[in-house]
Parts: sequence; C-alpha cells; structure tokens
Amino acid sequence: MKELILHGSKIESHILIEKGILSKVPDIVLPKEKEEEIKICIITDTNVKDLYLNEIKESFKKRGIIVSCHIIEAGEEYKTLDTVSDIYNTLVSNGIDRNDMIIALGGGVVGDIAGFAAATYLRGIKNLVQIPTTLLAQVDSSVGGKCGVDLLQGKNLVGAFRQPNQVIIDVNVLDSLTEDIYAAGIAEIIKYGCIWDSSILDEVSKADFKENIEDTVIKCVDIKRKVVEEDETETGLRRILNFGHTIGHGAEKLGNYKDLSHGEAVSVGIVAALKMGEKMGITVLGATERIGKILQQYELPITLNYNIEDVYKTVLSDKKKKGNSIAFIYMKDYGKAEIVMTPIDELKEIMKVLREE
Ligand SMILES: NC(=O)c1ccc[n+]([C@@H]2O[C@H](COP(=O)([O-])OP(=O)(O)OC[C@H]3O[C@@H](n4cnc5c(N)ncnc54)[C@H](O)[C@@H]3O)[C@@H](O)[C@H]2O)c1
Ligand SMILES: [Zn+2]
Repeated sequence: MKELILHGSKIESHILIEKGILSKVPDIVLPKEKEEEIKICIITDTNVKDLYLNEIKESFKKRGIIVSCHIIEAGEEYKTLDTVSDIYNTLVSNGIDRNDMIIALGGGVVGDIAGFAAATYLRGIKNLVQIPTTLLAQVDSSVGGKCGVDLLQGKNLVGAFRQPNQVIIDVNVLDSLTEDIYAAGIAEIIKYGCIWDSSILDEVSKADFKENIEDTVIKCVDIKRKVVEEDETETGLRRILNFGHTIGHGAEKLGNYKDLSHGEAVSVGIVAALKMGEKMGITVLGATERIGKILQQYELPITLNYNIEDVYKTVLSDKKKKGNSIAFIYMKDYGKAEIVMTPIDELKEIMKVLREE
C-alpha cells in the first residue's frame, strides 16, 4: 500500500492507494479504541450506490458499527445548498454528532458536497473520509480539502477548506467508468504534466497507459499534496492548479454545466492557455499542437465553441479576479508553470488569438 501524508494546518490527511483497498475500509478508518462508539454516514450518488455502497456498508455492519446512508441524485446540477440541507436532515435524524464520521463515496460532486457538509454540520465534525470513484476525483478533487457547492450565479461560490482525515484510492473502481468520464480525469492528469512533471505527458501518450494508471495517480496525488502543503488556502503556489481552468470555467458556464463536463472544459481551457501562451512568447512553441494531440487521443474536446467575447465576460466574473487583474496560469515549458498577473483589458487582447484557427 502506498501512503502519502498531506500535512494540513489543522489536519494530517492520510492518502492511501492500493488496488482492492475498498475491502479494508473499516480497518483503515475506525479508531483503534472504542470503535463501536462511532456512527457513520456514507454519502454517495444514485450511480455509485449500485456499484460499491453495499460492500462498504456491510463491512462496517459486520463489526457492529451503526451506518446510515444518504444518496444524492448523480450530476453537477445537484451540487447545491438544497442537497446539503437534505444531508443535514439525514445527519440529524441519524443522531450523527461531532465525534462521528462522514464518508464521501463517489466522484468530485459527491466529494465536494460531503466535504462541505462535514465542514459545516455542527461547525465541523471530527472525521471525514474521501473514497473517490472517478479518475478526476482520485487525482484531484478528493485531495487538498477544497469543498463546496454551486449557486445559480456560478460554480463553487460557497465552500470551505476541510482536509479529509483519510483519502482511500482504489483504481479498480475505475473499471466501471464510461470512456468519457474516464477521459475527464485524463484532462486533469495532463494539467499536472504541463505544470509540474513532464514525464506524465510521456506516460499519458502511451497506448498502454491505462494499464499503469495507479503509478500516474500516485504521481498526481503527490504533486497536489506538495502544492497544497505549501499553500493550503490558495494565495500563492496553489493557483497553478488552475491551469486551464480560467477559460475552462468560462466554457463550462456558457454550456450551462451540461454541454461540457468539468474535465472536458479543462481540456478546452488547457489548449486555450497554451495558444495564448505561445502568442505571448511565454509558452514553448509547438506546445499547443503536442498537448492538443494527446487530449484528442482520449477524444477530449480542444476547441472553444463559444463566442470569445462571451467567454471573456464569464472570465471577468471569476472569483479569482483581484481588482482589475487576473492571475492567469501559463505553461512556460513542459512541466513548468508561470503565474502572470494580467490586467483584464490586456487579457481581452490576448484572448483574440482564440478566434484564429
Ligand atoms: N474540490 C476540488 O479541489 C475539485 C477539483 C476538481 C474538480 N472538482 C469538482 O469535481 C466535480 C467533477 O467531478 P467528477 O468528474 O468526478 O464528476 P461526478 O462526481 O459528477 O461523476 C461523474 C459521473 O460518474 C459517475 N460515477 C462515479 N464513479 C463511478 C464509477 N466508479 N463507475 C461508474 N460511474 C461512476 C457519477 O455518478 C457521475 O454520474 C465538479 O463539480 C468539480 O467542480 C473539485
Ligand atoms: Zn479541475
């Protein structure tokens, strides 16, 4: 078993990665003493419930642990305060108290919502466990403690930082993903290759990449661990993880969070950031073509099918804007990111390159 520890300011987050680890969840998460005193609520969604919930639930029940479950409808459109409110009701009616445990079993949507519930219910409960079941959640969203929900006005506008006590990663669960949901995770993996470790780009280009996915998951998690340890609340280095996300979020919003999944939007956003970087003389020449080809290998979209003016307007409403500037993340060279504070009217000029074929 591979164990990585993220030393957060308040919580030490243990990230455990092993094939088949799902069958060992109680051994990993239960306290060493008086385990029978803890109550657990597992939060999952309508798709994951039929695949992995029973095994985990039963393994706790066998040890005499009281387990309740809360099933949310699958999909980004349910990442709302209403869903969180329903979760609070389940927690209250099952007598979950501050010393108990929430387990998030699912993709990034479940992880973000359950993390937020854990951060806020009773002003924060003691134990939060993330069991990510999509590739995107394994390499990115389950690690690092960012959680939250969307508002009608935009994505992730309400949230908290709450490091999970444990993250349990079993790549065997990726076998049940559809190609497109798998590919969404690849977009985030390519992000890590661009900003931190170019060897990931070589690996992901290989035809047998999926067979060795666990090695890449470990690499990505370790990058995220290092970045978050240095800047937990995203005032400095952590911003590089937003590579591809500035334009990506714009595209995601313009498609009403339906036309493009988060990972697909990131794919489009990565190509846009590379194109803009090449035009500015910041990014190594030829990068747009090279990375674009890898993304296409996984049938990820690479063109921005929206009016550039509209994309620009959504970028302006981005919560990461500071005054009249935005921290735009470029790839300087393969595996090297550069944060450039860019005045917004200058950004408008740079974005014109996205109109060109
Ligand atoms: N907190 C963070 O740091 C962070 C980082 C990146 C993304 N995110 C968030 O993550 C979300 C996207 O996450 P996602 O791409 O995992 O989407 P998701 O959670 O919606 O999952 C995608 C689909 O896959 C299904 N699914 C999950 N696991 C499965 C499995 N093993 N087999 C079959 N189907 C399965 C889900 O039911 C869902 O229909 C977005 O809301 C995004 O904002 C958060
Ligand atoms: Zn992302």
